[in-house]
Amino acid sequence: MDARAADSLAGLDLIEEINRLKKERNAVILAHYYQDSAIQDLADFVGDSLDLSRKAAATDADVIAFCGVRFMAETAKILSPDKTVILPDMDAGCSLEDSCPPEQFRRFREEHPDHIALTYINCSAEVKALSDIIVTSSSAEDILSQLPKDQKIIFAPDRHLGGFFNRKTGRDMLLWPGACIVHEAFSEKELIKLKAQHPGAPVAAHPECPAHILDHADHVGSTSSILSWVLAHEAETIIVATEPHIIHQMEKAAPQKTFIGAPGADGNCNCNMCPFMAMNTLEKLYFALRDLEPRIEMSEEVRVKALKPLERMLEMAGSAVGKGDLGDPDQPVAPAAINSVDGDC
Ligand code: 13P
Ligand code: SF4
Repeated sequence: MDARAADSLAGLDLIEEINRLKKERNAVILAHYYQDSAIQDLADFVGDSLDLSRKAAATDADVIAFCGVRFMAETAKILSPDKTVILPDMDAGCSLEDSCPPEQFRRFREEHPDHIALTYINCSAEVKALSDIIVTSSSAEDILSQLPKDQKIIFAPDRHLGGFFNRKTGRDMLLWPGACIVHEAFSEKELIKLKAQHPGAPVAAHPECPAHILDHADHVGSTSSILSWVLAHEAETIIVATEPHIIHQMEKAAPQKTFIGAPGADGNCNCNMCPFMAMNTLEKLYFALRDLEPRIEMSEEVRVKALKPLERMLEMAGSAVGKGDLGDPDQPVAPAAINSVDGDC
C-alpha cells in the first residue's frame, strides 16, 4: 500500500467502515481458516475450500469479498458469474497453482489419453478447464469411491495429497509433482521432540503434509474436518499440523484446551504461515470494498469449461464433511450438470 493510501485511513475505524461498505454494496465476506484472525472475525462465513465453494454458489449477495487466495476467488467467480468477486490482494496466489502451468498440464494429459484428470481445487481456472472433476481435501475420498476401481486417474497438482489418497484407497493415481510450501515446511524431527514434550497429545494434520508428517498423525483431514475433530476430542492438548491461523477458531470454540502448532525446522511454527494468505489485510479489504477492485475477471470460454468439473464436484461431494463454523453451507448449490464421468475436458 502506498503512503497516500495509508494516510487516507487515518482516524478510520476499519471494522466499522468495512461493515458499512458491506451493507452498502450488498456484499458477503467469505474467509478461509488461514486468514488473519481479525478477518475471520468479521467474515460472514469461515470455512474450508468445499464450504466456501458451496457458499459462493448459493449466495444472493451482489458482491463476494473473498478473503483467501486467488484460486478460491476464481472458483467463486466461475460458480457465480453474475456477482462481482473481489480479492483484497490479487497477488495472493498459491504454490500449488504455480507448480502446475496450464500448457504443461495440457501436454501431460495428452500423453495419458486413457486417464481422467481429478484435480485439486488449488489450481488456476485454466487448469480447472482442462480437468474432468475438481476435488477438495474434504470431498476427494467420497468422489474417488464413486469412480470405477480400474479407472486410470491423473491427480494434480499436489503429490502429497494424491499420495495420501493413493495409500488410503489402494488406488494408483498418477501424481503431478506439485507441493504446498507451507505444509512441506513441517519438521518430522521437531514434531517428534514436541510429542515427547507433550505425552499423549494427539496430532491432527492436513493431507497436504508429506507422508513422513502424516505418519505421526492421529487424524488427517481438511481444515473443517481438523476443526471438528479437535473440538470433539477429549484431549486437553492437541498438536495441529496445518497453517496455524486455524488455531484462532479452535481457541474461540474451546478456550479451555491448548492447541500447539506443529513446528518447522527452526522449532517454531512461524515458518508455516502461508505467505499468500497473509497478503490480505483489513486495510486492503476496506479498499477492495470501497473501490470494488481488484476484481476477478476471466474469459467466458475458460469459465464455462472450468464450471463443468466444479459442478461435478458439488454434485458428487454430496454431504462430504465441510461445515464452516459460521453460517450454513447446506444451501442449494449450483445445478448439477452431469450424472456421469465421461472423461472429456
Ligand atoms: P481446505 O481448507 O479445503 O482443507 O484446504 C486447505 C488449503 O489448501 C488452503 O490452502
Ligand atoms: Fe497454497 Fe499452501 Fe498457501 Fe494453501 S497453504 S494457499 S496450498 S501455499
